[in-house]
Amino acid sequence: MGITAVIRSVSHHVPTRRVTNEDLSKLMETSDEWITERTGIKERRFIEDDSVTTSTLGEAAARAALEKAGWDAKDVDLIVVATLSPDLYFPGVGVLLQQRLGCRTIPALDIRAQCSGLVYGLSCVDGYIRSRQAKKVLLVCAEVQSPVLDLTNRGRDMAVLFGDGAGALTIEAVESLSASEAGRGIIDSYLGSDGSGAEVLCMKLPGTARPGFIKSSDIEEGLVHPKMDGKVVFKNAVTRLLETAQVLLMRNKVTPDQIDLVVPHQANLRINEMVRQELKLPPEKVFNNIQRYGNTTAATIPICLSEAVAEGRLKEGNLVLTLAFGAGFTWGGNLIRW
Ligand code: UT7
Repeated sequence: MGITAVIRSVSHHVPTRRVTNEDLSKLMETSDEWITERTGIKERRFIEDDSVTTSTLGEAAARAALEKAGWDAKDVDLIVVATLSPDLYFPGVGVLLQQRLGCRTIPALDIRAQCSGLVYGLSCVDGYIRSRQAKKVLLVCAEVQSPVLDLTNRGRDMAVLFGDGAGALTIEAVESLSASEAGRGIIDSYLGSDGSGAEVLCMKLPGTARPGFIKSSDIEEGLVHPKMDGKVVFKNAVTRLLETAQVLLMRNKVTPDQIDLVVPHQANLRINEMVRQELKLPPEKVFNNIQRYGNTTAATIPICLSEAVAEGRLKEGNLVLTLAFGAGFTWGGNLIRW
């Protein structure tokens, strides 16, 4: 019997501060109507103050996931973190969580796959487990993005899209599944990247590509804020999400109607609707919560998974398909028997 990576628990944590479209329309020329129509977003969460960081949000999500799994932090033998908004330029958030959670001196690594963080993360964890390098893994996806948004007219196209939040999963290596757990685990993952899209969606600074690292003129020019050509990203997202779904379904001989729940990245409700219609799935088989959280980048899918479990829409034994596309470009998905 082969070894399987079984998801034992999922949890999430978001800041309490709600920022509505109406709130943003007081800071820039935008409207609830524009944001709702183009994206589906009604509100998002922003950190309450500077004491909240990516690692503190991640820690809260991780502690809740550990508790649900009945694990002690000392049980964990690998930490994988996905984020594009680390507390520090270096080191990564993985080591900060090792310390905050009180884990043993286990390996801790950070993945930089932006909105595809969860799908890359699960694939990475699956590989560590299948190669018998880890048995009890904590995967944390956390983002604090609000401080780098340009909350003025200049940045309105990006500022209305993003929010802060975190999700965490515990994943266990199981040597041979009991009859009651038969078939559970990460079945397959599909990942891709296309660096020709790197500057279509990026934040240039801080970075070594600019001589002088960060100059005051760079700040004035807005190079310290994320930038995107939304239409190019939109088209690529729909194409790559469908490609991912088709590959995972075909190579595992699964038809769309056999999927219990599709959990896509939350970048735009219109993107997810197009994917749903193309896969001919009813609305209840696709989980969306972008309306309440906006785009929390790596954290979107784990937050969805956590809410889907809490709402009884995701149960043990269900067949789940995750789908993500983001900056890089990076994309991918996981087929999971929950
Ligand atoms: O998570 C990573 C992956 N990200 C994505 O997948 C995002 C993909 N892209 C999108 O979701 C969409 O392209 C957006 C929601 C970002 C933008 O929607 P769009 O329909 O592509 O709008 P647009 O950027 O073409 O802008 C249309 C108009 C422009 O005005 P003009 O030139 O037509 O006069 C913008 O200046 O809307 C204007 N606009 C705004 N108006 C009000 C841009 N941002 C805003 C705003 N409020 N916040």
